[in-house]
Amino acid sequence: MARALITGITGQDGQHLAEFLHGKGYEIFGVVKGQNNPRAQQIREEFPFVEVLSGDLTDLPSLVSCLETAQPTEVYNLGAISFVHFSWTQAELTANTTGLGVLRMLEAIRMVGGQQNNPIRFYQASSSEMFGKVREVPQSELTPFHPRSPYGCAKVFGHDITVNYRESYGLYACSGILFNHEGPRRGLEFVTRKISNAVARIKLGVQSDISLGNLDAKRDWGYAGDYVKAMWLMLQQNEPDDYVVATGETHSIEEFLELAFAEVGIADWHPYVKQDPRFFRPAEVDLLIGDPTKAREKLGWKPEVDFPGLVRMMVRHDLAVESAKLSK
Ligand code: NAP
Ligand code: GDD
Repeated sequence: MARALITGITGQDGQHLAEFLHGKGYEIFGVVKGQNNPRAQQIREEFPFVEVLSGDLTDLPSLVSCLETAQPTEVYNLGAISFVHFSWTQAELTANTTGLGVLRMLEAIRMVGGQQNNPIRFYQASSSEMFGKVREVPQSELTPFHPRSPYGCAKVFGHDITVNYRESYGLYACSGILFNHEGPRRGLEFVTRKISNAVARIKLGVQSDISLGNLDAKRDWGYAGDYVKAMWLMLQQNEPDDYVVATGETHSIEEFLELAFAEVGIADWHPYVKQDPRFFRPAEVDLLIGDPTKAREKLGWKPEVDFPGLVRMMVRHDLAVESAKLSK
């Protein structure tokens, strides 16, 4: 039976991936950090088929122990300090978790899986944030990196060390360079969910406005449920490789606002949106747009949810959640 070990199980992608792999009949092990992580209980309740293991990407012995217990055929390394803005506040923690954490997991795989014909397949959650100040448009697997944040720098290390371990030790290690992907499980700190949640609350009269930073930035936004399929497909190929996963479209924060407010019948969003210097970044990534040709041709992957569909899904979800809170 296929067995998957997932770091970052309490995050957006970890939950989508667990659901997806469960549908494929996998036995699933999820790594949860901390001595009493409140999100562990949520995982046990919502995903009873996941066996929760205690581990931390900053602690090599704990990763070895997780691998020994799970005996996985596939490891998905989704755990990270993933909020770009936060990475300036705790740059060392970000480098240690998001960067060195990848090296620790690769070493743990070498220790547990053996040096020759290591049977464990490894997926690394790389990021379009590595392209940063983009060198070409659109960005492909061949576009040089120019990270703009401590997070982006840490992801470049994680990406490069994954490629290096594949080339040095023959590990089946893949790196998915995923562009922004969102959905109802997105954390409230990220701009799309911050907006969809605020729009719902404004519609219901429990919030008056929303404060944001740079509204001009453009992102290639897809749906997280589509993107975890690409992760799995990468580990089912004959040879390990790296792939860009994106929609090939880009939209500004303003376009997201326009569609989100329109979804609740508000035609002009301007009176509800304030700009606050606290939400601007020391260095910005102005434009991301991916070229997913390789993923489409080699993996047969394509996104199912388009941009308006994504915004609609998130706003409708938050409207339902916030309405339910009010009726309690
Ligand atoms: P997320 O919702 O922020 O989840 C991050 C996960 O990492 C959480 O489960 C968190 O656990 C865990 N984590 C943090 N520090 C850890 C540590 N020291 N040891 C073990 N686990 C730790 O992120 P996501 O959106 O699901 O993204 C998944 C991965 O894809 C991340 O690596 C992210 O950087 C990368 N990525 C995301 C996108 C995107 O648009 N979503 C795009 C490209 C790449 P707690 O809940 O306990 O904090
Ligand atoms: N979070 C946030 N909050 N972002 C804002 C705000 C705000 O109030 N106002 C404007 N923005 C802008 C940011 O400056 C950025 O240009 C854009 O909205 C998107 O910000 P986030 O949603 O925080 O995502 P991100 O693009 O920085 O990072 C996400 O995508 C990466 C892939 O490109 C994260 O999921 C990363 O983990 C991921 O690697």
